[in-house]
Amino acid sequence: MQLPPDLRGALEDVLRETRASQLKTNAADISRRYRTPRQPNLPLLRSAEDVAAYLAVRLPATYAAVRHALRETLAAVADDWPTTQLDVGAGPGTAAWAAAATWSSLGAITFVERDPEMISLGRRLAAGASAGPLRKARWLCEDLRRLPPPAPHDLVTAAYVLGELDVAVQDRLVAQLWQASRGLLVLVEPGTSGGFARIRRARAQLLGLGAQVAAPCPHDVECPMADGDWCHFAQRLERSRLHRRSKGAELGHEDEKFSYVAASRWPVRRPEGRVLRHPQVRQGHVRLEVCGPDGLRSEVVARSDGRRYRMAKDLAWGEAMPAPGSEGEEPS
Ligand SMILES: C[S@@+](CC[C@H](N)C(=O)[O-])C[C@H]1O[C@@H](n2cnc3c(N)ncnc32)[C@H](O)[C@@H]1O
Repeated sequence: MQLPPDLRGALEDVLRETRASQLKTNAADISRRYRTPRQPNLPLLRSAEDVAAYLAVRLPATYAAVRHALRETLAAVADDWPTTQLDVGAGPGTAAWAAAATWSSLGAITFVERDPEMISLGRRLAAGASAGPLRKARWLCEDLRRLPPPAPHDLVTAAYVLGELDVAVQDRLVAQLWQASRGLLVLVEPGTSGGFARIRRARAQLLGLGAQVAAPCPHDVECPMADGDWCHFAQRLERSRLHRRSKGAELGHEDEKFSYVAASRWPVRRPEGRVLRHPQVRQGHVRLEVCGPDGLRSEVVARSDGRRYRMAKDLAWGEAMPAPGSEGEEPS
């Protein structure tokens, strides 16, 4: 996956103003803070240089994760398209760039973010967007710990933000965001055991509030993931030259790991299952690890299974297995 050209161009214009060596130092600081357990509510980004480094090394990865989550959500609610979006803990507006690339129907976007530096850089990026709603978006400088009930929006997103809030604030925010959602609430967190624990907790809370899960789970029953394991996915994204330099990285790509849940008020089309690991394609068979309505299962699909084998061979980690008889798989 690549960033859309207008976002890539705007990002490079902004980052040209900061020395590459400075970006590298601050990027290293940020990544150390991400890995070190810290007090919730303590800001991760603490200076204008941190914010620039976030743009250089984290925005491409969080964009890729949110875009993946929204693409899978779109497949589950294909008959309903959002026209309004609320994105909280918006940072530089990443989740709305991903939403605008997913749904051309988006007309109005509202961001909530507490860091004025982020808002100012987010506005600068959005000024170069080809999508009008990004250029015209409303930016609200607010603290999520004291957020008044937000106005209703079709799509509500919170990406990589729950982990910056303490548990009581997370619970209150999830309830508020669901209340504000007319269609979808999509939460994305890092693909770590901690990130997944937050997603699992929010999922249970949302089911209790009457939500249906649109993605990634193909069911609304209790999450079957065993303790010590965590449900996460990976999205490969290309690194630009500046991205590589800011990270001191050689590889031309990276794999962003993330966990997510999309809760829906709209009717949901359920796949047969969700692929939870890289499928192992062997001579004459494919081994799949799948989450389905009956829990987790390992499935071996042999060449002799005909259409099912051809479908299984093309599946990737994170993709939905089409329900038998749907467009993706005809019953064999
Ligand atoms: C890791 S960044 C994620 C940004 C963006 N959602 C993305 O995916 O790239 C977390 C953002 O949440 C914001 N944030 C953290 N705590 C907040 C709070 N209490 N109120 C408002 N924003 C907050 C931070 O300022 C930061 O911009």
